[in-house]
Amino acid sequence: MYFPVYRPRRFRRTENMRRMVRETRLSVDQLVYPLFVMPGRGVRNPVASMPGVFQFSVDRLMEEMRGVVELQIPGVLLFGLPEEKDELGSQAHAENGPVQEAVRAIKQSYPELTVITDVCLCEYTSHGHCGLLRGTEVDNDSTLDILAEVALSHAKAGADIIAPSDMMDGRVQAIRDALDENGFENAAILAYSAKYCSGFYGPFRDAADSAPQFGDRRAYQMDACNSEEAIREVALDIEEGADMVMVKPALAYLDIIRRVKDEFDRPVAAYNVSGEYAMVKAAAANGWIDEERIMMEILTSIARAGADVILTYFAKDAARLLRGKS
Ligand code: PBG
Repeated sequence: MYFPVYRPRRFRRTENMRRMVRETRLSVDQLVYPLFVMPGRGVRNPVASMPGVFQFSVDRLMEEMRGVVELQIPGVLLFGLPEEKDELGSQAHAENGPVQEAVRAIKQSYPELTVITDVCLCEYTSHGHCGLLRGTEVDNDSTLDILAEVALSHAKAGADIIAPSDMMDGRVQAIRDALDENGFENAAILAYSAKYCSGFYGPFRDAADSAPQFGDRRAYQMDACNSEEAIREVALDIEEGADMVMVKPALAYLDIIRRVKDEFDRPVAAYNVSGEYAMVKAAAANGWIDEERIMMEILTSIARAGADVILTYFAKDAARLLRGKS
């Protein structure tokens, strides 16, 4: 037998040896910081269930951006809250909506920063569902045209990557076609491909004011019990033109991240979602865990599972720590 010829503890003796044989190297390069944009001026509302996260008007967002850029975080993901909601979510594709304005402002000051925009209707519809209703059901195909229009308005404003999170079938292709027909063939698509119907989105719905007014999202987001279906979803999105695919949430779905990484040849993103963030913050506030340590352990686990890109509300905190070390 191997023992005692091979002793795994030999490489654990000193920090320098541990450092040398480390298999996963979490880096600032892979972090994306999600942000919430509001109409108006001078707005910086704290989100109660997500300490450290705010809703910003564009002017205050630009103050926040300075810190993001200084920390060399390579990209941001923008969500918008409209002035008014309606049945059709029409403000989602308003030329001067908060997201469109924010994209223009960021691109003007920081042309090199990667700007990703979330494409969905739930923040914009009066009923809070991610698509258009027919009766009490979310109608897939009529939603596709609006999603394509939203994507196009983001690309026109200068977004680098369009990220549809609605989970309608066929939306990647609808968006790809609209972008290409309008000369935005260089705008990339990050598809929320394996997006599960999850309790971990709770705090986000406060931040984005996007809770469904009736029912839930089970008829369009994935069932948490499924793994094969995630593979089919990713395959479809890649066929339809996705440049990068996402698994969401991250922590309870690390197995899915690993499968997608192993089975497909596209960069894989994972979304460390609002509930995952809030749990850490709440436990840390009670003195029950060491926040920094747990944050780094969680982000490392997501990278180790196979995520190339990690979307996380911890991006600034993690970047600060990682840069301090390098
Ligand atoms: C919009 C959307 C959601 C999230 C990202 N895009 C919420 C939802 O599907 O209800 C969740 C992000 C988070 O929890 O941090 N469809």
